[in-house]
Amino acid sequence: MILIAGVLAAPLAACGGDGDSASSGSGNSGDDKIVLGFSQVGAESGWRTANTKSIQDSAKEAGIELKFSDAQQKQENQIKAIRSFIQQKVDVIAFSPVVESGWDTVLKEAKDAGIPVILTDRAVDSPDTSLYKSFIGSDFVVEGERAGDWLVKEYAGKTEPVNIVELQGTTGSAPANDRKKGFADKIAAAPNLKIIASQTGDFTRAKGKEVMEAFLKAHSDIDVLYAHNDDMGLGAIEAIEGAGKKPGVDIKIITVDAVKDGMQALADGKINFIVECSPLLGPQLMELVKKVKAGEAVEARILTNETTFTQEQAKAALPTRQY
Ligand code: AHR
Repeated sequence: MILIAGVLAAPLAACGGDGDSASSGSGNSGDDKIVLGFSQVGAESGWRTANTKSIQDSAKEAGIELKFSDAQQKQENQIKAIRSFIQQKVDVIAFSPVVESGWDTVLKEAKDAGIPVILTDRAVDSPDTSLYKSFIGSDFVVEGERAGDWLVKEYAGKTEPVNIVELQGTTGSAPANDRKKGFADKIAAAPNLKIIASQTGDFTRAKGKEVMEAFLKAHSDIDVLYAHNDDMGLGAIEAIEGAGKKPGVDIKIITVDAVKDGMQALADGKINFIVECSPLLGPQLMELVKKVKAGEAVEARILTNETTFTQEQAKAALPTRQY
């Protein structure tokens, strides 16, 4: 008995949250409350913090019991959390996969246990789509394309070389793969736009700063920075200022997310263009959870509505920005 209890409790070491956090014992508390096990990527960015809040607030509002687990950007922690949710017999499992590959085994375990799974924010690359009920989130390829489109227009009619450096998101994650692809596809239309360096900044401010410092040391002729999220862009701004250059002027900056800090930097002229990626997935997720639990059919793919912001648009949007 002691051994079994130890095995069940071990995966929960990675769990955290707001008091709703995962705990041992039966998932279904006996009343009619739906129990949702949610495995979050981590707390790497302002976007992620807003996403976690949206999920926790919406669960409360919907009367859904949330078992929340923070994977600290590690796939093995997410797999442990999902196994723990299966052991606890939660009603529904939702998660935002840190990377795209390597989920088939654990998703099959959930399916065999009869627990429906919903993907939020990020996709998995499994060809077996019966392993999950729905995927709710952004189209990251389109986000990359929007960033590329803006840059092509910005340099339209010019033929001199434009040197671009790229700060990629977490290696192997859907947003890093797709934002890179969408951007590259669009700038291919203008052969003078060239990516001269591209490296991961792991979606964090600290890593964005560190990698940008290295880029600046290696290249004296950087014209543009494309960062896969605001946080890396904000870290890079510190590096650019530290090198005595003016962000937004000496080096043009494009980022993705549109969280408040990013929007403020855009309004201040330090960023030139932001592609929005909405973290407010909670309300739609809770609706899906209820439908899935009731055995109703749900859409296989639910796309988030998003826009883009110029410096002027950021000034207008900032006062009412929610996150
Ligand atoms: O998956 C969404 C991405 O993850 C956000 O753009 C980024 O900020 C976050 O870390």
